[in-house]
Amino acid sequence: MAFYVRKGNVPPKRHTQFRQPDGSLYAEELVSSLGFSGIYSNLYHINPPTRVKEIRKSVAYGTKPDKDLTLQQIHLNTSGVKNTGSDFLDSRKVLLMNDDVSMALCMPSRQSMDYYYKNAEADELLFIHDGSGYMYSQFGKLKIQAGDYVVIPRTTIYKLEWDTSDIRYLVIESASPIETVSRYRNELGQLLEHSPYCERDIHPPQELITEETKGDYHVKIKKGGYIHNYVYDHSPFDLVGWDGFLYPYTLSIHDFEPITGRIHQPPPVHQTFQAAGYVICSFVPRLFDYHPDAIPAPYNHSNIDSDEVLYYVEGNFMSRKGIDRGSFTLHPGGLPHGPHPGTVEKSIGAKETEELAVMLDTFRPLYVTEEGKDFMDKKYPMSWTE
Ligand SMILES: [Fe+2]
Repeated sequence: MAFYVRKGNVPPKRHTQFRQPDGSLYAEELVSSLGFSGIYSNLYHINPPTRVKEIRKSVAYGTKPDKDLTLQQIHLNTSGVKNTGSDFLDSRKVLLMNDDVSMALCMPSRQSMDYYYKNAEADELLFIHDGSGYMYSQFGKLKIQAGDYVVIPRTTIYKLEWDTSDIRYLVIESASPIETVSRYRNELGQLLEHSPYCERDIHPPQELITEETKGDYHVKIKKGGYIHNYVYDHSPFDLVGWDGFLYPYTLSIHDFEPITGRIHQPPPVHQTFQAAGYVICSFVPRLFDYHPDAIPAPYNHSNIDSDEVLYYVEGNFMSRKGIDRGSFTLHPGGLPHGPHPGTVEKSIGAKETEELAVMLDTFRPLYVTEEGKDFMDKKYPMSWTE
């Protein structure tokens, strides 16, 4: 994230002696991105982060895309799902994926984790649909609640603790860094006046946690189709301080201020994050277009080089029939998509919408996975034909 945060104690000058009460040195760790060209943070550990106690057997983990599916409009209806597994990792059901990004639905029955987790190959963006609790990481304790996007840079060691039993969230895994939108920022990185959100809406970890305890600390590391099982003799949350621009943060979809117009505004006004190969947009409650002859329902659309995913969060989705809370639609490039029959006329005169939805638009084809196919609504491809 493009602003500076400092938590706990750090020495006045980086890469200089910083001593513990017993006279030994704290272990400095530079966590940097894009080699040494991207954002970074400096972390100060009680124990060397390199000191491993045990490396256990790696376990295959992941799913595959189905690239042979007939080209079609896709509706994955997950509205009836009660849970997708027991645990943090086995409840992650990846439904859609390509080499740039994947999208998983997670509804664990367990509220806490007895291990730590690190994604070593992808940034993660969680979208919390139902539930609240805390994300704990080396960077501190971060409150999470429904409506939050939680941006987690790769290699962050974390665990989630929920204080609710109804838990539903998305995990978007990104091969490239997840960033705020560059056209919303000035040349020094500050969010501009016309940005739909500003720095006050971005929440870094609130409170540093410093655990000095010893024992067996299991960190599950995701990389290359495996979970690698590392055990340390100290807590990974053993920092006395850190500072920098790289850290997890939350941004609530409810703090995204919509941009509206006299006539229908295209999805880029809803853009929330950027990454290589895709964008994330937020559709939030807003006033409809106010030209006297405006048609609030969207026009038919052929996006010749994008696959468009919408995840329906709350509200009434005016241009669609048969869509529920928790539905995913994928409208692939190569087929025009648009409002369902009757919804265009019906939209005329409507003043506002209460819809809440998360959009993922990819620039390369996005595929349904084997697990995703279980949720396919077979009638959807023909649902525009009366
Ligand atoms: Fe579209």
